[in-house]
Amino acid sequence: MRSYLEMTGICKTYEIYGTQIKALDQANIQVKKGTVHGLLGENGAGKSTLMKILAGIEKKDAGTIYFKGQEVELNNASQAAALGIGMVHQHFSLIDEFTVEENVVLGIEPTSFLGVINTKQMRENVAKVAEKCGFELDLEAKVGSLSMGQRQKVEILRVLYSDPELLIFDEPTSVLVDQEIESLLKVISLLKSQGKTIIYISHKVEEILKITDEVTVLRAGKTVETGATNKLSAEKLVHMMVGKYIPLEVPKELQKAGKVLLEVRNLNVRKGMVKAVNNVSFELRAGEIVAVAGINGNGQQEMVEAILGFRKPESGQIFLGDKEITSLTPRERRQMGLCYVPEDRIQVGSCSTANLAENIVVDRYFKAPLARRGWLNLKTMHDQAREMITKYNIKATRTDCLVGTLSGGHIQRTIIAREISADPKILIACEITMGLDVESARYVYDVLLEMRKMQKVVLLLSSNINEVMSLADRVLVIHEGKIVAHLTGKEGFSKEEIGEYMLGLKRQNGIKLEVS
Ligand SMILES: Nc1ncnc2c1ncn2[C@@H]1O[C@H](COP(=O)(O)OP(=O)(O)OP(=O)(O)O)[C@@H](O)[C@H]1O
Ligand SMILES: [Mg+2]
Repeated sequence: MRSYLEMTGICKTYEIYGTQIKALDQANIQVKKGTVHGLLGENGAGKSTLMKILAGIEKKDAGTIYFKGQEVELNNASQAAALGIGMVHQHFSLIDEFTVEENVVLGIEPTSFLGVINTKQMRENVAKVAEKCGFELDLEAKVGSLSMGQRQKVEILRVLYSDPELLIFDEPTSVLVDQEIESLLKVISLLKSQGKTIIYISHKVEEILKITDEVTVLRAGKTVETGATNKLSAEKLVHMMVGKYIPLEVPKELQKAGKVLLEVRNLNVRKGMVKAVNNVSFELRAGEIVAVAGINGNGQQEMVEAILGFRKPESGQIFLGDKEITSLTPRERRQMGLCYVPEDRIQVGSCSTANLAENIVVDRYFKAPLARRGWLNLKTMHDQAREMITKYNIKATRTDCLVGTLSGGHIQRTIIAREISADPKILIACEITMGLDVESARYVYDVLLEMRKMQKVVLLLSSNINEVMSLADRVLVIHEGKIVAHLTGKEGFSKEEIGEYMLGLKRQNGIKLEVS
């Protein structure tokens, strides 16, 4: 008897300028009906590609797919959808100008017999699905105005709306905070209890142990292991994912903070009618990692954009060392050592349609050694990119491959390579390990700790509370645009406490922002 879903001997090779990239090499997966099946593997292992083939988005070169005992050919997404297969993608594909509900029903809008969209019906249907998931979303808001976490929910709603029986989630929690992850995991349990089957891609060990029944591990396009989750420990799981044991704790030595490198004084930022940042002041000192904890959409993004010069503050001042930078351009600030890993790596952090080398030199092409008498030295550009590929272990065969063809984790590595190689004094890191496999995330932690040791400073914006707990010397909690708590290592802080401040359930009295 065949399993509910069987993909056997799946091969897929991409070609870039004559170079062959074998994404899948005889990959297999067998999924039982009504289970949650984890699909794991390091960055670039082929997870997204295998699932895109199942969702009819990519075409396999070889192999067979059996769904419910029948061999199926999936030549396009509508064929897969007609069979009841739906996929929540790793990267968003929403239309900014459309509202939440318009995005959710796009292509399958409820219409009257004359073909007119039945708005009332549409609203009711979407609201019902949102309610079932416990997602709080303004259905009439334009997607362009939403935070990454909210967009992720729209993507999920879009797939749930057509009620598929097999659902694929490709790293659905990377931009969600703890509480939101909990609610998504509940939705998945609920879907499972309704008899649906789920394939779940994630790099997060805790989640995999919590919700999956079985796992399949890919490495370099091949299936290397498969088995029941209840026989696995966290260590074993990490070993399966990256092929080696990686210590899960992060070693951090105690050290005293040095002089002030960045100061924000009474910053106010308006976004449309809303006061996104409300009188925020803090300072960052050399040799520190300071985390900003907050639920997506509480002003942290606008605050970061004002510090970087992408957004004009309504009032307030920003200093780098003792120089005021409030009216400098982003490039001038960058030249002074202020670098940035943005949360949105596709639309802000990189340019998918430019190649890897161009993405790396975008902040330095106008300076020596890249520019000579106004001309860009292409050889130096590609040499530098090749160096980055080796140093940061980017899985790319050529320096002229488009960044859009890299796997999610390798796009992130490319951005990190550019920012770190700019030798920042201050790094603003937003969800910096999002989408990275366990080994790469560990590498990034080492890089951040090294910056700290070298008396630089990292402002860490992260929804991953474990990351905050293991890296941060201090935590600033932001809620509705205000700093509501300042937690320092000396007093100690717990996950629960941070959570309460983030949700606005608690607020510190007389917040002290100076560091002794
Ligand atoms: N459209 C494409 N063109 C060329 N190469 C591609 C394309 N899509 C994926 N690849 C390559 O196929 C390989 C597998 O990529 P895939 O996105 O499936 O990895 P992944 O396991 O999902 O990784 P991650 O955890 O980083 O998301 C990578 O080397 C990637 O660069
Ligand atoms: Mg992927």
